Amino acid sequence: MKRHFLRLGDCTKTELEVLLARAAQLKAERKAGKTHTTLAGKTLALVFEKASTRTRVSFEAAMGQLGGQVITLTAEGSQIARGEPPQDTARVLARYVDIIMLRTFGDDRLRTFASASTVPVINGLSDGAHPVQLLADLQTVQENFGTLHDRVIAFVGDGKSNMAQSWIEAAGIFGFQLHIAAPDGYAPHANASVGNITVTHDAREAVKNADVINTDVWTSMGQEAESKKRLEAFRGYSVDAALLAAAPKKAIVLHCLPAHRGEEISEEALEGAQSRVFDQAENRLHAQKALLELLLVGGTRAASL
Ligand code: CP
Ligand code: NVA
Repeated sequence: MKRHFLRLGDCTKTELEVLLARAAQLKAERKAGKTHTTLAGKTLALVFEKASTRTRVSFEAAMGQLGGQVITLTAEGSQIARGEPPQDTARVLARYVDIIMLRTFGDDRLRTFASASTVPVINGLSDGAHPVQLLADLQTVQENFGTLHDRVIAFVGDGKSNMAQSWIEAAGIFGFQLHIAAPDGYAPHANASVGNITVTHDAREAVKNADVINTDVWTSMGQEAESKKRLEAFRGYSVDAALLAAAPKKAIVLHCLPAHRGEEISEEALEGAQSRVFDQAENRLHAQKALLELLLVGGTRAASL
């Protein structure tokens, strides 16, 4: 059955809760040495039109550790860079594999690809969202605080970025407080300042009651021509010792990585006791295993296999 995951909202809240519980179980079982074959006989194609370290390796490892196999394509190593349209690539890959992950630029391109595919498509990062990263981030928050709905989460940086957009979507689903601090011109696209979401220019105000302080690069992939302008615009929006001093001591620091030390995050914030950045990166593996099981065999069924 074709069931895409292009946005967090492509799953119900209950499905996401079950997925996060399964991710925690898979993490514990991996640490205990238990092996799985829930995806035996299944093939995943990974298609990268942008660079990746974590997404590529975590999906490849996830599929292999669940007994399935993976084929990875990059734009430059395939006909994509030579202009083959996404709807042709999607239709062809769907004849060979059971599920496809696409990392691309515009969300229109992602939707065109998904509409043409006869197998499920996972968004492995687009300009508008990074939902597989959010699964790992939410797992990390749960590990540290137990529940999601009563958390206070700060996002400091580019409110228009894919990460900020996915955090906004997660706040809508789980109901936690989300405080976004962004400079002029970089507030979220929609008027996000509603209900449990606030938008401010004041990073200290955003983190003052936070359980989680979250940031992302100031220049996302595809925006390299703007990097000088962005470097200027985001000065004062670094997650550093001064900002952490304005937040509760229990607050944890998240960053989806890769990080630019000295820009959006300081060395000491990234490497300090409050950082959970490498647990967060690890959780990509466990959360994506749970997602692949959900889309390929049904989450509840996979847990009983
Ligand atoms: N966080 C993340 O998606 O990392 P990569 O770009 O390395 O995949
Ligand atoms: N916002 C960043 C996330 C990288 C994982 C980007 O799109 O480049």
